[in-house]
Amino acid sequence: MSSPVIEYTISASYGDTLVLHDVGGAISAGEIVSLVGLSGSGKSTMALALLRLLRYRGGTVTGSIRMDGAELMELSEREMRKMRGRRIGFVPQSPGLALNPRLRVETLLDETWRAHAAGKPASAELLQSVQLPTDRAFLQKQAGELSTGQGQRLLIALALMHSPPLLITDEPTSALDAITQAAILRLFATINRERGTAILFISHDLLSVAGISHRVSILHQGRLVESGSPEDVFQNPLHPFTRELVSAVPKPPVRA
Ligand SMILES: Nc1ncnc2c1ncn2[C@@H]1O[C@H](COP(=O)(O)OP(=O)(O)OP(=O)(O)O)[C@@H](O)[C@H]1O
Ligand SMILES: [Mg+2]
Repeated sequence: MSSPVIEYTISASYGDTLVLHDVGGAISAGEIVSLVGLSGSGKSTMALALLRLLRYRGGTVTGSIRMDGAELMELSEREMRKMRGRRIGFVPQSPGLALNPRLRVETLLDETWRAHAAGKPASAELLQSVQLPTDRAFLQKQAGELSTGQGQRLLIALALMHSPPLLITDEPTSALDAITQAAILRLFATINRERGTAILFISHDLLSVAGISHRVSILHQGRLVESGSPEDVFQNPLHPFTRELVSAVPKPPVRA
């Protein structure tokens, strides 16, 4: 594995309540790291903190986030906006909250590209890659008319548009049926392999992520309690919480 794309140690709180306690890690180019934890363990807080978006949810972050030779904690909001999308792609947890329901699919694709007049990837190709229709009728649909799963796939397409070196996905397949979910996981694996995109894959489901992850990190009550290869975490879980999590999984996975 090559040098880290991102390296961080962060704590996060809402008011007086600390919800992330010195969570540290690094993700190398070409690496898929899964962050797994129960509902409320701090996963979305972690994603938003790394993107410096937590203040919009009323939270504060302390610590360090290093990427591209810069300390992201020191960047202005304007500088951070340039990082988001182009350097760090983000698939947020709730399409309903992330997509303006009035905007048409076509407009969302155009607006995500924004300033880049030339070289916009073909919308049809992007939509196809996430198993969405590419016809005119679909492009004319407003985001509010999409199903949750379609909205989630559209968010994935938008996040991939700029081919960012790092992709942070927050439960990107939770609203999808099993077949579409498997197709999206394969898409992430392909993008990782072909473009070397590093991925922080957030999920509550250890089994679904183990197959595509190089490393799994377990978050429990805002603390990173374990990190290792999926094989290690499954076969030799060290922390009591990880043991409980693994014992709740019906069958061990086979790594792709
Ligand atoms: N705006 C907020 N104000 C106060 N507390 C919050 C706020 N947002 C989240 N929390 C609390 O922070 C903790 C972590 O929340 P977070 O959304 O990061 O969990 P999560 O692991 O993403 O859960 P899920 O799997 O349900 O999405 C929870 O206890 C939650 O109640
Ligand atoms: Mg969440």
